[in-house]
Amino acid sequence: MASDPLVLFMPSGKRGRFAIGTPVLDAARELGVYVESVCGGRGICGRCQVEVAEGQFAKHGITSTSDHISAFGAKETRYAEKRSLKPGRRLSCSATVQGDLVIDVPMDVAVNAQMVRKAADTRIIERDCAVHLCYVEVEEPDMEKPLGDADRLLVALQTDWDIEDASLDPRLLPTLQKTLRDGSWAVTAAVHRDRETERAVVIDVWPGLHNEGYGLSVDIGSTTIAANLVSLLSGRIVATAGATNPQIRFGEDLMSRVSYVMMNPDGRAAMTTAVREAIAGLIDQVCEDGGIESTDILDSVFVGNPIMHHLFLGIDPTELGGAPFALAVSGAVSTTATALDLPMNAGARVYMLPCIAGHVGADAAAATLAEAPQESDDLMLLVDVGTNAEIVLGSKARVMAASSPTGPAFEGAEISCGQRAAPGAIERVRIDPITLEPRFRIIGVDLWSDEDGFAEAAEETGITGICGSAIIEVVAEMFLAGVLTEDGIVDGTRMAQSARIVADGRTFSYLLHDGAQRIVVTQNDVRAIQLAKAALYAGIRLLMDKMGVDHVDTIRLAGAFGSFIDPKYAMVLGLIPDCDLERVSAVGNAAGTGARMALLNREHRRSIEDVVTRIEKIETALEPRFQEHFVHAMALPNKIEPFSKLAEAVKLPERRTPAEPVGDGETPRRRRRRPR
Ligand code: FES
Repeated sequence: MASDPLVLFMPSGKRGRFAIGTPVLDAARELGVYVESVCGGRGICGRCQVEVAEGQFAKHGITSTSDHISAFGAKETRYAEKRSLKPGRRLSCSATVQGDLVIDVPMDVAVNAQMVRKAADTRIIERDCAVHLCYVEVEEPDMEKPLGDADRLLVALQTDWDIEDASLDPRLLPTLQKTLRDGSWAVTAAVHRDRETERAVVIDVWPGLHNEGYGLSVDIGSTTIAANLVSLLSGRIVATAGATNPQIRFGEDLMSRVSYVMMNPDGRAAMTTAVREAIAGLIDQVCEDGGIESTDILDSVFVGNPIMHHLFLGIDPTELGGAPFALAVSGAVSTTATALDLPMNAGARVYMLPCIAGHVGADAAAATLAEAPQESDDLMLLVDVGTNAEIVLGSKARVMAASSPTGPAFEGAEISCGQRAAPGAIERVRIDPITLEPRFRIIGVDLWSDEDGFAEAAEETGITGICGSAIIEVVAEMFLAGVLTEDGIVDGTRMAQSARIVADGRTFSYLLHDGAQRIVVTQNDVRAIQLAKAALYAGIRLLMDKMGVDHVDTIRLAGAFGSFIDPKYAMVLGLIPDCDLERVSAVGNAAGTGARMALLNREHRRSIEDVVTRIEKIETALEPRFQEHFVHAMALPNKIEPFSKLAEAVKLPERRTPAEPVGDGETPRRRRRRPR
């Protein structure tokens, strides 16, 4: 007997054999391939679209042709006439299997809303959302059967969608009868169920077919807040917006915000209001950009470091200001948009990822979800470089996390010519090791400063300062060119060789640009970077000690800053441990990606909730070896670590033996010149 046709779904690669005549949607469901359906297979929502991939798929032993799927049926013809169906597209609830098939499940089933494609966010996230739109046709009232309208709606959900124990949000009761009659007994219910063990709740009801549902994923950073509006039905990002965290006016860094709360009776409430208002502004913006109503936002996921997490939820963060850094809640938090005064659908849900520890937050949990060190065979180091760097180190065997207070130096604060990344800021730097002449690029101009046309091109923006990624580069290049000693001293003996080295009181500076604005890198600037990078490296090294390893296999740099720094320069500075350069990568906003994963798939929520309980938390400040690692890490790249892999890729300056005077006596001379 010939076997049943083989059906392979792409991009998931899931496959199985199905009897001739099986609806393609049923085949997908059986294999756990997510294909959206709002109308429950009635052929009216158009959400279940698929395409037949035609051709010989030798690897899978499948010859797939459009003859192997049923001819256009009545439902498809009707849908195509009313709403139009792109050539090649089929409604999987209508089309049936007639032979071997390779089926593409497209990500862009846009029925109404416009879709924005973002290069940085092309990761395909399989959907299993906590909120589903379910179209039902409800039985009309009958004097013989006095079941209420709401009850008959719940019966319809059970019959058509197998939702057994649903309840209705009581806020919907006053309007439900009108909604049912407006829809002539056909309505779409938004049903929320996050955990299988919890009761499903109808959070909104619309008359007729309501074919749009959105979610919001938000990363609340200490400096910036970034929001994505995502279609729950296609998984696509529809709009993106970002804003400066208005809490900055209460304090630049986290601890100053905690102090503000401690010193001001209304401080906590003011900061909670500020962050929620900023998020409300972002919601308005993404809704406008996406051309949608904010009432169509039905679910949301928020991540942030522990202090941002607490302030957003309205929790006093004072306990996080000192040991034992007690979190009010470490597990995932589920609440509603209404409880947090957020302008979404009145029934919209809010989910916050768990915090890992009192100083490693839900943002680090989200980055862990996105990069999955816990599933890696190799030892992976995941670092989110910010004012408070969050560090996760691990593999399948074991995962550890810590944070390091790096301060704002990497973001350009504390640096004399530092500035935020904006047009006119220097973003790339190279220094000739012979002449010590620099060349650089600025944001907004594609040319290097020594190329023809640069001066004219830069006229519009000016050359205004150095942004974070360039601070790393300029200090690393100064070291590679011999301007800096391994102890981070600007070597004054090279003054005779280059006018770029200038005396600056008792120390020396490097003149990067002499124009309308004089841009110099001072000894204090170098010190600030050394302190920040030493804090980060010491935190990483401490985790490596705890893990009992002396190297890592891969490094992922997350966060806005991590995305812009060149891994080579980060390693030359000794910001990150020695590693094959090809195995160091920038992963962009991993916390934001993790938040979106948790928005689109409930399994991701369960998996990170479980992983977080297994992560070992290390409090770096309390570890005696932190100081020792910190002192060694003040040197470039490090006083004792060999950085041999880096040395294979980059020509590092010769190491001086300890007996040799540093910088041809620069340090002693500096001491001698200090009479006052
Ligand atoms: Fe709605 Fe197929 S499931 S059209």
